[in-house]
Amino acid sequence: MLIKKGSDIKWSEVTPQRTYLDRRKFLAGMAVAGTTAVAGLGVRNLISPSVVRADGGSGLAPIQGLQKSPFSTTEKITPFKDVSNYNNYYEFSTDKYEPAALAKNFRTSPWKVTIDGHVKKKQVLDVDEIIKMASPEERIYRHRCVEGWSIVVPWIGFPLSELIKRAEPLDKAKFVEFTTILDMRQMPGQRTNVLDWPYVEGLRMDEAMHPLALLCFGMYGAALPNQDGAPLRMVVPWKYGFKSAKAIVRIRFVDKQPENTWNRSAPNEYGFYSNVNPHVDHPRWSQANERRLGEFFKRPTLMFNGYDQVASLYNGMDLKKNF
Ligand code: MTE
Repeated sequence: MLIKKGSDIKWSEVTPQRTYLDRRKFLAGMAVAGTTAVAGLGVRNLISPSVVRADGGSGLAPIQGLQKSPFSTTEKITPFKDVSNYNNYYEFSTDKYEPAALAKNFRTSPWKVTIDGHVKKKQVLDVDEIIKMASPEERIYRHRCVEGWSIVVPWIGFPLSELIKRAEPLDKAKFVEFTTILDMRQMPGQRTNVLDWPYVEGLRMDEAMHPLALLCFGMYGAALPNQDGAPLRMVVPWKYGFKSAKAIVRIRFVDKQPENTWNRSAPNEYGFYSNVNPHVDHPRWSQANERRLGEFFKRPTLMFNGYDQVASLYNGMDLKKNF
């Protein structure tokens, strides 16, 4: 993604697409040397050495009682080691290979989430209370980055609508804003002005209520690794990856469209809606194709990332203008 802020950093030095293309020219059989993250403290992340799972042995706490979801794709799942070693997480680094190591000791417990704004039930909840709100589901989603790479991940969570219903939004609530933790002692990227901190994202209320919008706290059968957004993140599979904020500490219900970080940073490149749309080029590259991590050949990108069931949310909107 483009970085325009910061006189000390040129976007050309940090733009992940370039990094990606340079390093991935010979992508076939990508083998990232695996520093697998054994994250932080607290009950969610307790190590269970006896458990062997599809997570590649991250040692993160397994999540029990997972429901399968009809929304899951049957496409080939991207290996855990790729999804957990190639991350956009600017609070830690602009280099995708670095968050895995830099976030290793990031503290995700205790962790409070403020729910406020135009809701009847304003409250501050421990993230463990949120996780227990509804039955956990495994959702195997395609996830596409605006930079042209994509992954297929068995995320774990429940529909964001479950939390929204419990918060009882007022009629005035038209959008939901997500704010990420601000903690520059733990997050070296926040000591730079590469983005405006904290990281903020938003959804329109009907998008947030859509059953596909997932409040996520795990992947590959276990708790989320820190670099993938522990302890709580969004996954909005029909939008570019940057709409899926990691390390959420505040969910605020607002009447106006939130100013999201990437839009504030580069309004001509990153809009508020950011639906995956192969017909709207990024100003500096095409969005027509994508490369799955671990694959060599590109594949065509699908409108809404293939999640056609959201199309009706945008009836009557010009999605070239509302990119
Ligand atoms: N959330 C925070 N807090 N900080 C970030 O830098 N990057 C976004 C999104 N959420 C980001 C974030 C971008 S650009 C992408 S593509 C996805 O996280 C990447 O998620 P992944 O690392 O799990 O693949």
